[in-house]
Amino acid sequence: MGSYALCLPVSMMAQPLQVGSVTLHSRVFQSPLAGVTDRVFRQLVRRFAPDSLSYTEMVSATGLHYAKELPYVMDVGQGETPIGIQLFDCRPDFLVEAAVLAQREGAQIIDINMGCPVNKITKNGGGSSLLKDPRLAGEIVARVAEAVSVPVTVKTRIGWSDQDINILDFAQRMADSGAQLITVHARTRAQGFDGPARWEWIARVKAKLTIPVIANGDIFSIAAAQQCLALTGADGVMCSRGTMGNPGLVGQIDHFFKTGEQLPDPSPAQRLRLAREHIQLLHGYKGQRGLQQSRKHATWYVKSVPGAGLLRGQLARLESVAQAEDLIEQALQTLPPDL
Ligand SMILES: Cc1cc2nc3c(=O)[nH]c(=O)nc-3n(C[C@H](O)[C@H](O)[C@H](O)COP(=O)(O)O)c2cc1C
Repeated sequence: MGSYALCLPVSMMAQPLQVGSVTLHSRVFQSPLAGVTDRVFRQLVRRFAPDSLSYTEMVSATGLHYAKELPYVMDVGQGETPIGIQLFDCRPDFLVEAAVLAQREGAQIIDINMGCPVNKITKNGGGSSLLKDPRLAGEIVARVAEAVSVPVTVKTRIGWSDQDINILDFAQRMADSGAQLITVHARTRAQGFDGPARWEWIARVKAKLTIPVIANGDIFSIAAAQQCLALTGADGVMCSRGTMGNPGLVGQIDHFFKTGEQLPDPSPAQRLRLAREHIQLLHGYKGQRGLQQSRKHATWYVKSVPGAGLLRGQLARLESVAQAEDLIEQALQTLPPDL
């Protein structure tokens, strides 16, 4: 790592970040992750990163329009702050309605998803397909920004495919329409999650825009965050897949930028204990459905625990909290003492 990476971003990254009327005391964000960043997950992220902005999973504005009760994906904890609610859709009317509700539920920031690559979403005009309709995307931002008093932000990709990389004009249009911050996942829709994130595009966006630009894609460590910031000059970073099974990552990076201290990665014993707590909390929150959802989290936690192949398979088929507690206790007992 070059020495340039050690000084410039560290000092800037310790400063608050102004997003419209909201002052954030961390420039390291937890991304929205469908099926992952529910209230329980965010609670764990927040334990390590109390200042960091977390986002809910994406919420369908159409789904919300027809819903009889508030969906779990929009459930924000009492006093949970700072919190952004992320919406997806292509219908301005439904998005306005959803944004007003999101603000009422406690969102301090409303993010519009313009990056999701999943067919089910894009074929209905939402997610990354909005990159192909900048006029509509701009109308959405303008209408939502007019309807709520909290800042409206956009999370998007660099383009639909290599032939259509349009992030420079697109990002400018979002800012002109009223977006107060933009997060750029530095891949095209066609890339999905493959190949390295192309951070050089974030540098170009940052050079063009005056609103804050957050860099997303491949922020898996303190070193990656430093390198990305040095290359892009972005106003902050957003962690995504790196937090799956490691909700302390955002806090670890934030702590580094505020203090210069590199906290160690969690030990196998810490990962196992966190897995156990996550399972207990999810079951307490969502019952049997929470237990089923906790299986994938549990397998992510133990991925890097030495000799845990068998345990992983068992956790992937969990039937009860008691079984999880037994399995994890046994694993803890058999860990070498220095782990
Ligand atoms: C399981 C999963 C769920 C995701 N859900 C969302 C979502 O709801 N909203 C969103 O804007 N991005 C979503 N993303 C994209 C991530 O937020 C992020 O942009 C992407 O993973 C790139 O960052 P990374 O390379 O650090 O993982 C999801 C990604 C994954 C792997």
